[in-house]
Amino acid sequence: MATVRYLTGITTTGTPHLGNYVGAIRPAVEASRRAGTENFYFLADYHALIKCDEPQRIQRSTLEIAACWLAAGLDPDQVFFYRQSDIPEIPELTWLLTCVTGKGLLNRAHAYKAQVDKNTAGGIDVDTDVTAGLFMYPVLMAADILMFKAHKVPVGRDQAQHLEMARDIAASFNHLYGDHLVLPEAQIDESVALLPGLDGRKMSKSYDNVIGLFAPREQVRKAIFAMLTDSRAPGEPKEVEGSSLFQVYQAFASEDETRKLRQAYADGIAWSDAKQLLFERIDREIAPLRERYEHLVNHPQELEQILQAGAAKARVRATPLMKELREAVGLRNLASVAAVAKKDKAKGTLPSFKQYREADGRFYFKFVDAQGKLLLQSAGFDSPKEAGQCIAHLKQSPDAAKAQEITLAAGVSTEEVNAALRALSVG
Ligand code: TRP
Repeated sequence: MATVRYLTGITTTGTPHLGNYVGAIRPAVEASRRAGTENFYFLADYHALIKCDEPQRIQRSTLEIAACWLAAGLDPDQVFFYRQSDIPEIPELTWLLTCVTGKGLLNRAHAYKAQVDKNTAGGIDVDTDVTAGLFMYPVLMAADILMFKAHKVPVGRDQAQHLEMARDIAASFNHLYGDHLVLPEAQIDESVALLPGLDGRKMSKSYDNVIGLFAPREQVRKAIFAMLTDSRAPGEPKEVEGSSLFQVYQAFASEDETRKLRQAYADGIAWSDAKQLLFERIDREIAPLRERYEHLVNHPQELEQILQAGAAKARVRATPLMKELREAVGLRNLASVAAVAKKDKAKGTLPSFKQYREADGRFYFKFVDAQGKLLLQSAGFDSPKEAGQCIAHLKQSPDAAKAQEITLAAGVSTEEVNAALRALSVG
């Protein structure tokens, strides 16, 4: 079975929380171990520049997020793990794609349109707060994906349109320049585990209800003890439905553990005891990862080395494809103009046999190459039919030694004659 290539882009803004871990990081790390697949994970730091103009934050987020994925078990030897900005071929491809992307296509992109709609509603200039970077976001993302010929791109619903655009852009390019790019498919997982946050709503940075994935232990404990519960007293049976605490526990626990907590709820466990159980369960999974995380964050040079090695590995794929694409669009070595033309000419004109009659009344033929150089000169035949049969024989079984037996050698090498005869039979 052919290898299936999966590619995931990780925007390097913010600090990962438990919701990111359960919903994205943990399943992706598990998926990276599937047999028969190649997996590309990259830090989309060029994309981060579109949203953030604080250099320190860009750097810090990249560090933390890279450390996070490695701590969560991503094995850089098994996958392609790299930083977008270490692959110069990506912006290069972005430009080639930009030139085949309709502006109208980009006008329809949700993120851009949302800003335009907001401006319109607010009665201000439509272009307020719209950078060309925001407008071009889908093209850069298409380059990320097409650069590595990804077949499948696991994304959330919100990214489905970007995948459609990547397909459209790839199809436009292929239509103009030949079949160079693979059309990617979105893989939208509807069953992605959504973790409730401290207030019961979906855990999300924008709700300010998150628990940091690698926040210090005490901070995680505090956050868990601050989770919203109802006011049932110890000893009173409690509902698992609608209990954020229970849902978060479930995301970390085995089935057996979950069953036990369900029973404890029915038996009237005190909220403080349930919270203690939850804290311990999360800590059991996260503590070993936290150790690795802290090590990496405190040794950024190790991380840098891993990313550099990852970039080198990724560029083994990117560089030849970019070379192919440059050639395809006509960004070519000028010296190759003559060489290509010459090659084409040689291919276009084949060697040939020429029959004629001499003054002695006998029939002859010549075999000449494309440039008119004499390869074989026949002896005289009594009839044109005999000369023709000899030619037919040579065409059928290109054998120069034989040819030279029945003809007069023209002073060229056997190999050259053979090559010309073979070219003729192929042509
Ligand atoms: N736009 C994606 C997001 O916000 C991140 C991303 C950038 C990406 N390039 C990508 C995702 C390529 C998948 C493939 O989540």
